[in-house]
Amino acid sequence: MAIERTLSIIKPDATRRNLTGKINAKFEDAGLRIVAQKRMKLSIEQAQQFYAVHSARPFFGELTEFMASGPVVVQVLEGEGAVLKNREVMGATNPKDAAPGTIRAEFAESVGENSVHGSDAPETAAQEIAFFFAGTELVG
Ligand code: CMP
Repeated sequence: MAIERTLSIIKPDATRRNLTGKINAKFEDAGLRIVAQKRMKLSIEQAQQFYAVHSARPFFGELTEFMASGPVVVQVLEGEGAVLKNREVMGATNPKDAAPGTIRAEFAESVGENSVHGSDAPETAAQEIAFFFAGTELVG
């Protein structure tokens, strides 16, 4: 399988509980390499732009307000089949459905406050990485 890159966001519920290191350990233990990372506070406008694909969903306001409610850690993960591998490490969106040992099973508080975001396909990964990072900031 090809070496890929994917965008990950450690969400405000996780930074609030000081879980960045524990979550990063899950990525690294799975063979994913963190090739870019920064902690930042999203504006509501940035959150709305990032999640624009969900703008018609009933939870859009809740989602974007939550994502702007505290610090996030945006990061680029690299590895073989990184998009799919990251989704396996994260677990299902709803922590009630997430497999044991996954980030969301261990740390997520609810379907909305679910600790991490990960790109869902290589094409969206490229767009989401470019949303937060310049090419020069990715150091493999
Ligand atoms: P994420 O992978 O960041 O992509 C979109 C997010 O919308 C998703 O994770 C969830 O956190 C959030 N989401 C999905 N369904 C709901 C819901 N029913 N209520 C609130 N938030 C949701």
